[in-house]
Amino acid sequence: MKTIILGSGKGSNAGALLDASSQNLLGSTQIVGVFSDVAESGVLKIADSHNIENDYLRSDSSSAKLTGEDEQLWMDSLSEYNPDLIILAGFMKILQDPFLKKFHNSIINIHPSLLPSFKGLRSIERAFDMGVRITGCTIHWVNSDIDGGKIIAQAPVRIMEGDNLEIVTARVHAAEHMLLPWVVSDLSQGIIPFPK
Ligand code: GRF
Repeated sequence: MKTIILGSGKGSNAGALLDASSQNLLGSTQIVGVFSDVAESGVLKIADSHNIENDYLRSDSSSAKLTGEDEQLWMDSLSEYNPDLIILAGFMKILQDPFLKKFHNSIINIHPSLLPSFKGLRSIERAFDMGVRITGCTIHWVNSDIDGGKIIAQAPVRIMEGDNLEIVTARVHAAEHMLLPWVVSDLSQGIIPFPK
């Protein structure tokens, strides 16, 4: 299963996947490339350290979306790898219809809350501030409804009296680093089916 990772930030989820891949824990998954809209991002450095092809692809940092022209460039670059799966792991750009159509039913996203609660940005902080006692992370198929595609898997994280945001954030990230490799492995083996 040819797999591409897109990210914008630290890249800890990409790191968890690449570590799992090095240990042959991802079934038939082959991570063929890692791409970012942020030139100096950690995610590209992590890919480099695993000797995985990686690149910054052009984008306007002041906008939540790629321009039509830039999105076409992304589509062209990614198509060269003929990916079966595209993983959004901390990818901050909102993808638009042409991209979603081109890679229909083959894009997943990891989100740091138990969707459908706390869609959007700063999800861990908002859950913490709200005082919920269980939060977590979700992996879902990507469609044009932001953080609203069909849920694939979730992992719960408890928030206990006396916890601070830092502790809860670390716990959610640990849950993500466990859940994402597991889901990717299951997708590659057909244990979790791709949508038709
Ligand atoms: C993760 O919490 C992910 O759920 C969210 O962005 C964060 C990315 O972290 N979409 P990293 O870049 O993988 O460390």
